[in-house]
Amino acid sequence: MKLSKRILQQLDSKLVQKINETYHNLENICYDKRHDEILNYEQIFWKNITNKYLMKKEPIACLDYGTGTGFVPEIIGPCLKEEDSLVSCDVSDRMLKICQTKLKQISVSCNCSFHKIDDGLIPVPDNSIDVITINSVLHHIFDLNCFAAECERILKPSGLLIVAHEPNKDLRLPFHGSVLRGFAKVLFRPKAIFFRIAESIPLMEKFMRAILSKVSESYRRRNKMLIEISQQMRNENLLDFDLRGTEIQQIVDFHAQSGFALKELLTTVFSKFELVESETYCHLGFFANNKLAGLIERYIKKNWPDAGKELRFVLKRI
Ligand SMILES: C[S@@+](CC[C@H](N)C(=O)[O-])C[C@H]1O[C@@H](n2cnc3c(N)ncnc32)[C@H](O)[C@@H]1O
Repeated sequence: MKLSKRILQQLDSKLVQKINETYHNLENICYDKRHDEILNYEQIFWKNITNKYLMKKEPIACLDYGTGTGFVPEIIGPCLKEEDSLVSCDVSDRMLKICQTKLKQISVSCNCSFHKIDDGLIPVPDNSIDVITINSVLHHIFDLNCFAAECERILKPSGLLIVAHEPNKDLRLPFHGSVLRGFAKVLFRPKAIFFRIAESIPLMEKFMRAILSKVSESYRRRNKMLIEISQQMRNENLLDFDLRGTEIQQIVDFHAQSGFALKELLTTVFSKFELVESETYCHLGFFANNKLAGLIERYIKKNWPDAGKELRFVLKRI
């Protein structure tokens, strides 16, 4: 389901950022629990990235953009030296606070700082950062050109931009591959299919939310959170109509539906960068959590390596 014309006409960088800020400020306490599966799966990638690109003899300055509750800083922080620095930034100050608390509890010797992003500008000087990390954030950013310009500005020449967990646009499979993936979804994720259908019909979504809120505490909390966001946007005169839960989710994950094609990103948004490495993953469209699902995933990945639902890549500033 696409966002209506009425909503799209009202959206701009400021509003999408505000909705993201409100959403993540409210989601902060339950974020780790909700994303448990994803975070576990991404950990190995970030550990490898740390070993490959961040553990240098000379001092290194890293910046994690859209830090959230600290998933990336928690992995890279303990591996950095005393002379290194690690900047964490986010639109949500509540998320940043959780990250700050977590880093205090683990052994991190580098210089850590935390910044709230207000206007898309990253509060660090030009040519000051060696590596920018960004996990599951690019699809939330409305103005990608502004973000890329900021990365160019703050990165040192040949500095790295490391992006992971972004929706891949080019995930098409030939017929029998799609059948296989569809079969796996029906078998292992029937609930997700039901929600997708229900959310595409406004009346059915309302009905479903009303029923689920009665039987599930976590669903009730989430529903309340979505209503609160819509009310807040109206109270602050940022919108003059209510948003449905699905619409809020789509605005928060602004580029998630269209996804990113790496080739396209490299010729447009990131034209001042060159590709170092890239990979697609999550070939079932969800993270496999049993042997049969793992087997099907490996088969799809082996035959169509570019068709993973998620995309990660490392770019170097030219
Ligand atoms: C899905 S979470 C990912 C958090 C963390 N990187 C992780 O992997 O767990 C997205 C984060 O991006 C932040 N965010 C959303 N839009 C942003 C923007 N325009 N600039 C900076 N951060 C943003 C949100 O507040 C949230 O903390």
